[in-house]
Amino acid sequence: MSEVGGSGHWNEVYSTRREDGVSWFEDIPDLSLRLIDRSGIAPDAPFIDVGGGASRLVDRLLERGFTDVTVLDLSSRALDNAKSRLGDAASKAGWVVADVSAWRNDRTYGIWHDRAAFHFLTETAAREAYLATLRQAVAPGGFAIFGVFAPDGPATCSGLPVMRYDARQLAELLGPSFELLHQERHGHKTPWSVEQKFQFALFRRAG
Ligand SMILES: C[S@@+](CC[C@H](N)C(=O)[O-])C[C@H]1O[C@@H](n2cnc3c(N)ncnc32)[C@H](O)[C@@H]1O
Repeated sequence: MSEVGGSGHWNEVYSTRREDGVSWFEDIPDLSLRLIDRSGIAPDAPFIDVGGGASRLVDRLLERGFTDVTVLDLSSRALDNAKSRLGDAASKAGWVVADVSAWRNDRTYGIWHDRAAFHFLTETAAREAYLATLRQAVAPGGFAIFGVFAPDGPATCSGLPVMRYDARQLAELLGPSFELLHQERHGHKTPWSVEQKFQFALFRRAG
């Protein structure tokens, strides 16, 4: 990935803003949790939150007894913030500092979750690399959950340009081995009460 939107940008954001001082903050990631429930995945299934940043999703998953949770992000600072918040519980999760579009991985996961990271990949090559990694990393019968800006959502986030998608476009990108099980438009309220239109979607990889 080029420097615009690289780790320097995100480390600066996560070291200068309060946790609830970023537009994407959510106290309880309700919709992600609902889609995880909807998948019916067992809590011992390997779970990865891609571009998870300092999200509280990992806290909620550990509370629910998930035993194999990994959070991947470009920003070491974001992950340090999450680990500080979690305290001792941080050791129950795995933490990976990586650019997902250049990440080499040899594991498979029962769920790949991405809220508001994929849409920052504006370059075709980075998107294709991300999708190739996803196809290799999601186990047969496993799930992918996306939350991205919808076509009528913001055109930028954190000062960076973003892509915007509806569920059909996401399905086309993932390809025929991923079945769209559920899609839902969502109005995310920023901490300063501005609504941002998101598109969420739950996919299952053919078994
Ligand atoms: C808008 S934030 C969303 C964070 C988190 N998913 C949430 O819901 O709170 C976008 C996150 O994607 C991460 N990110 C952006 N580009 C990335 C990349 N190429 N590889 C890994 N993480 C990336 C950023 O560091 C940031 O933490």
